[in-house]
Formats: sequence, C-alpha cells, structure tokens
Amino acid sequence: MKPVELKKDIYWVGAVDWNIRDFHGYSTYKGTTYNCYLIKDEKTVLFDTVKKGFFSDLMHRLYNIMDPKEIDYLVVSHVEMDHSGSLQEAIELIQPEKVFCSPLAYKAIQGHFHPTDWPLEVVKTGDTLELGAHSVNFLETRMVHWPDSMFSYIPQEKILISNDGFGLHWATSERFDDEVNGGELMRHAAKYYANILLLYSPLIQKILAQVADMGLEIDMIAPDHGVIWRKDPGMIIRAYDTWSQQKATNKALVIYDTMWKSTETMAKAIYDGILDEGVSAKLINLECTHRSEIMTEVLDARALVFGSATLNNGMLPRMADILHYMKGLKPTGKLCAAFGSYGWSGEAPKMITSALEDMKLEVVSEPLRINYVPDHDSLKPCRELGQKIGKMVAADNLPPACEDVYCET
Ligand code: FEO
Repeated sequence: MKPVELKKDIYWVGAVDWNIRDFHGYSTYKGTTYNCYLIKDEKTVLFDTVKKGFFSDLMHRLYNIMDPKEIDYLVVSHVEMDHSGSLQEAIELIQPEKVFCSPLAYKAIQGHFHPTDWPLEVVKTGDTLELGAHSVNFLETRMVHWPDSMFSYIPQEKILISNDGFGLHWATSERFDDEVNGGELMRHAAKYYANILLLYSPLIQKILAQVADMGLEIDMIAPDHGVIWRKDPGMIIRAYDTWSQQKATNKALVIYDTMWKSTETMAKAIYDGILDEGVSAKLINLECTHRSEIMTEVLDARALVFGSATLNNGMLPRMADILHYMKGLKPTGKLCAAFGSYGWSGEAPKMITSALEDMKLEVVSEPLRINYVPDHDSLKPCRELGQKIGKMVAADNLPPACEDVYCET
C-alpha cells in the first residue's frame, strides 16, 4: 500500500474504508478515509493513527517510506476512535520518544486508554515543535468537534493539518481535491458540515477569525477525512464561512411522511404554491431519504415545511426522528410550518409545530390539517400556505440554490 507525497518529505499514510455505511446515524454511503500524515525530518512525526482494524494499512504505507520504529513523535489531534483506535498498537510498535496532545486530549486519553507509561506531552495553542527543516505550530480547536480537537500548521510548507475540520466522508483512490469531481466534492463537504459541525457554527466563526488574525498562509489543508485541499484551499474556508453563518439560498423544502398518500397530496399542493412564487423547492419523502441527506438540504434552505399523518395520537416515527436529529444540530434562520392529514385525533401537525418552536425556528402559520382525503377544494389552503412561504422566501432576495449546496459564482 503506497503512501502519497503531499510535498517533499510530507506524506499521506492513512487508510481508505470502502465499506462503512453508517457513522453514528450519518449515512456514509460512499465510505470514508482515516487520514494520517508523516513528516520525515531530523525528528520524524506521525499525525494521528487510524481506526482499529486499519492499523496494518497504516503500517504497510509507512514501511514504504521507513521503518515505523524510527518515528520519533506522534501527534494525537483528536481522541475519537476513528483517529485513535490504533493508538495503543502504534505506541507499542513505534515506542515514540513523545506523544503530543492538547490538554483536553490528555484527559481523553486517560479516559479511553488508561495508560501508565505513555510519554505524553501536552501542547497548547501557540506552542511549536521543532523537527529540523520543519516545525509544527499547534492550535487548539475546542469543540470542533470534540473538546480535545487540535490543528497543526507547518509554516515551511504552508500546510494545515486540520483534523476533522474541512473533512468529508468519501472513499476515493484520489487524494487531492483537483483529482475528483468538484460538484460531488462540495456536496460531501456540505453533508459533513451539516451533520457534524452545524451545531458548532458560532465556534467555527471564531476559529475562522482566529486563523485570519494569525495571517496563516495556506497552500494545503490536510483533513483527517476525505481528500486534501490544494487546488484552492480558500474555497473550503469560504464555504465554512458561509455555512457557519447559516446563510440561506432561495430554497424551500417540503419534508413529509404519509400513511395513505393524503399527507403526500397536501405536500404536493404546498410544493406547487412555493413554486408559484419563483422559489426553488424540493419534495422530500422521509420514507426514501436518509436523515443526513435531509440535513444537507436543510443547510442552505430558507424554509422548511413538515408534514405528517397522525399515528397513535402522535407524528409518524420517521418525522420524530428527523425533528430530533435536526434539533441537536441547531439550524437557525428557517421559516417553518407544519401540516398533515388525519382521521380522528390529528395531533401530528400541532406536535411538529411545538417541536419547531422549541428549536426557536420561526413558525409562520398555524398547523394545517385536512380530515381524511383531500379533494381539489380542500387543497386550496395547502397551495396558499406554499404561496405564503414562497412569498416570504422570495422577499429575501437570496442567491439561487445550488445542487452542490455551495457554489461560487
Ligand atoms: Fe471526530 Fe473523525 O473523528
């Protein structure tokens, strides 16, 4: 298994996981990578290890460069097991002189591994590690997305090793952004942001400002998942700036689950009403769309309309799932409404409305309900609701929606 050279004496030595399909409820339907980086110098350092089960991939790549036992230092950017699951094996085999980690990673290492004699050394923001021709500047990035997360910057080569930041779940044989389809790349990056980082958006704004204040020149961003950004690293930084401000586009989503198609019929009428106002809309059936794909669409949508039939005096289970998932990710700045067909009790639209209010989203209409099966006349309020929402979105004069969720025009 071959390493890939980023710049002279700096290598990608990670693993590609073609088979993972679920990452804590996130659909990794195209797999992922666990990236590790090696800098060969007077002192040689390995940044991160890999998920348990991929240790031999890491070692095979390292053996193509050097005997892993000659590595002097390890850096633990983050203790989550997709990057540190092989840490114990790596320390036992390499016997490093030092293992560098942030103060909070030090605590997390105790909690995960209970080490007795590891040569741990805590580094903080502003600390520098000298390797010879290269040095490493550390920058703690707390809660992006774990308390212990940390960036490493190599000033001589202008490379930012960004841990989970700027990552994406996509298994590819290519290692660089300019080797893959750009639209698909940004779609995966947006999905990753929407499902992992969205709730930390205020912190990400601060980190982006901190990086700008530090005046770091960046030629490459090397994250721990997905491809390395070298074509235009500024683009993913600008995308993070846009996403962390939760900037919307001229787009509304109608997200629904249905029992016997009555709620679906309502959804279609609402969707038509939105289109009447010249707003881009998507009709999303929860039965056939994964929650993490929906969150990717939510990222740049201005309006969200949720519909569910009533089952057992409540909303349908898939609606509860997406609302619960979305609540944790803390989207902001959305116009919302709820609807649904019902037979006798009809609680679902009211329960959805209360869930949306609980998320502090702007509910723009009373819950809209239709008893049993809608006919042409009873669909009129649905189309009007769509038009009302469409008018509100159109009034914001937002940029057009982009299929990749982020486009620079
Ligand atoms: Fe937070 Fe990729 O681990």
